[in-house]
Amino acid sequence: MHFAIFRLINIQVITGASDGIGKAYAEHLAKKGLNIVLISRTKSKLDNVAQDLEKKFSVETKTIAVDFTDTRSIYHDIDKQLTGLEIGVLINNVGMSYSHPEYFLENKDNDHLYDDLIACNIYSVTNMCKIVMPGMVERRKGVVVNISSTAAQIPSPMLTVCCYQVLCRQVLGGFGYGIC
Ligand SMILES: NC(=O)c1ccc[n+]([C@@H]2O[C@H](COP(=O)([O-])OP(=O)(O)OC[C@H]3O[C@@H](n4cnc5c(N)ncnc54)[C@H](OP(=O)(O)O)[C@@H]3O)[C@@H](O)[C@H]2O)c1
Repeated sequence: MHFAIFRLINIQVITGASDGIGKAYAEHLAKKGLNIVLISRTKSKLDNVAQDLEKKFSVETKTIAVDFTDTRSIYHDIDKQLTGLEIGVLINNVGMSYSHPEYFLENKDNDHLYDDLIACNIYSVTNMCKIVMPGMVERRKGVVVNISSTAAQIPSPMLTVCCYQVLCRQVLGGFGYGIC
C-alpha cells in the first residue's frame, strides 16, 4: 500500500472490522492517525475494538452494527450513517465461507448458505463501493481495497461458490482502482 496517499485523507471505513484481518487493518491505520468507521455484526465486539483504538492511538471512531447477509435494509442505514464523512479509504474485508468443504450439490443447506455467501461476499463489495466511491471521485482522491483470497487462483471443487466469489472481488478491485 502507498502510504503517501494516506496523508491526504483521514477517514477509513472497514467492513468486518471487529476481528481478524479487518481488525488488523484498523489497528495498522489507526496507528498512522486515521479516524475509523468500523462496520461489523456484533455491537459489543465493535465497541470494544473502537474503545481500544481510541485509547491507544487517540483517533476518533464510529461503529455500525449490521449483518451483511441482509441485502435489503442495511445499505440505506449505512449510507445514512456515512453521509457527510470525507472517506479516503474503504476496505471491503467482510467475507464468509462454508462451515466445511462440500460438493456444490451435496450441501444440505445450499439455498440458505449460497444466498448468504452471495450477500456477504458480493453484495457488500458492490454496495459499499456504490455508497463510498462517489465522494472519492468528487474529491479526486481515495483508495478502495478489496480483500480476496488465494482461492480465486486455485480451483477448489469443494468450495466452488466461495471460489468464484473471491474471483469476483478481485475483478471488482480492478474496477475500484480504475475509478478512483
Ligand atoms: N483468514 C484467512 O486465512 C483468509 C484467507 C483468505 C481470505 N480471507 C478473507 O479475508 C477476509 C477476512 O477474513 P478473516 O479470517 O479475518 O475473518 P474473521 O476473523 O472471521 O473476521 C470476520 C469479521 O467479519 C465480521 N462478519 C462476519 N460475518 C459477518 C456478517 N454476516 N455481517 C457483518 N459482519 C460479519 C465478523 O464480525 P462478528 O465477529 O461480529 O461476527 C468479524 O468482524 C474475508 O473476506 C476472508 O474471505 C481470509
